[in-house]
Amino acid sequence: MAFLSDTLARVKPSPTIAVTNKARELKEAGRDVIGLGAGEPDFDTPENIKQAAIAAIAAGETKYTAVDGIPALKKAICAKFERENGLHYTPSQITVGSGGKQVLYNALVATLNPGDEVIIPAPYWVSYPDMVLLAGGTPVFVEGKMAAGYKISAADLEAAITPKTKWLIFNSPSNPSGAAYSHEELKALTDVLMRHPHVWVMSDDMYEHLVFGDFTFATPAQVEPGLYDRTLTCNGVSKAYAMTGWRIGYAGGPVDLIKAIGKVQSQSTSNPCSISQHAAVEALNGPQDYIAQSRVAFERRRDLVVAALNACPGITCPTPEGAFYVYPSIAGLIGKTSKGGVQITDDEAFASALLEETGVAVVFGAAFGLSPAFRISYATSDAALTEACARIKAFCEGLE
Ligand SMILES: Cc1ncc(COP(=O)(O)O)c(C=O)c1O
Repeated sequence: MAFLSDTLARVKPSPTIAVTNKARELKEAGRDVIGLGAGEPDFDTPENIKQAAIAAIAAGETKYTAVDGIPALKKAICAKFERENGLHYTPSQITVGSGGKQVLYNALVATLNPGDEVIIPAPYWVSYPDMVLLAGGTPVFVEGKMAAGYKISAADLEAAITPKTKWLIFNSPSNPSGAAYSHEELKALTDVLMRHPHVWVMSDDMYEHLVFGDFTFATPAQVEPGLYDRTLTCNGVSKAYAMTGWRIGYAGGPVDLIKAIGKVQSQSTSNPCSISQHAAVEALNGPQDYIAQSRVAFERRRDLVVAALNACPGITCPTPEGAFYVYPSIAGLIGKTSKGGVQITDDEAFASALLEETGVAVVFGAAFGLSPAFRISYATSDAALTEACARIKAFCEGLE
């Protein structure tokens, strides 16, 4: 449509939402569908958080607030960064937005000029490249190979940096691979960044609390204090406290950048929902037992899914350190034909045939920039996961 902007023409609609819509259509048509596409915890928001929201409504906390967050929430976020990440921020270094997504987007809009490059390790969260494009920048992809646990190396990062590089978007644990960088792995990357003072880091720590076994989470400004002045440490309550619908995300960083992000927000959405902000104060300051409980459940499901997928002929599934996703390779299935007569030419054909023929909805790897693979979100019941994996196995066994 000629009326639409050139920028918009460069942006794709979200493929994860497309899969969810297709699965919904099939369900409405009476098919037995198991959706493994959605990236949100299947648990309910903890009761103490809901009660804080109800109390906020009763107390009349229903008006505009400061654009980038109420003082009580900024204080709670500072305490969180200090307690969990050893990072010292003052309230003037904190911004709060309507979800982590808005904070990341506003930060890109506030900083990118045409021609500016943003390094994005692949496989990546679907929104990063399109957000960079919408903000006028150029995404530069660096592939984290499966053999390397889907992580990039210091040499990979160094090779991607140019004089035009503005940001590295770093996401650990990762959506879609679940890969998380240890302190040592991350230090190797921050050492590279120390040699390139014009490159800033946007660290998306959304899945911080979902790490398994004895893995310890690390974030760039903590691992390399020398990067503190050029790091935006982004986080939110969506995944940590099962609050995806409440829309609260936040970041800590240098005052001037935080002010710039607030400026973008002041001319677009203004403050995030006042009631949700009060709920987020309770999430961060209140009892933290939900986090440990959800971690136990997700770790059990990860183990179940990894074992079941590795029993499928042609599928190889690495064991991720965190988040609630697995990212198996289907290199062993390319070129085969399904019982329904579909040739598996790529991961999109695989995901589409799997959905049509077995009712299991997954997201194809091309959407995340690394093929041939697919993503499963295991944020659903053990029973649904067991059944879905059995159907995937039967599908793979039926390929010729
Ligand atoms: C890596 C990553 N970052 C950010 C977000 C956005 O979270 P929010 O719901 O707080 O906007 C998501 C949500 O799927 C995500 O996977």
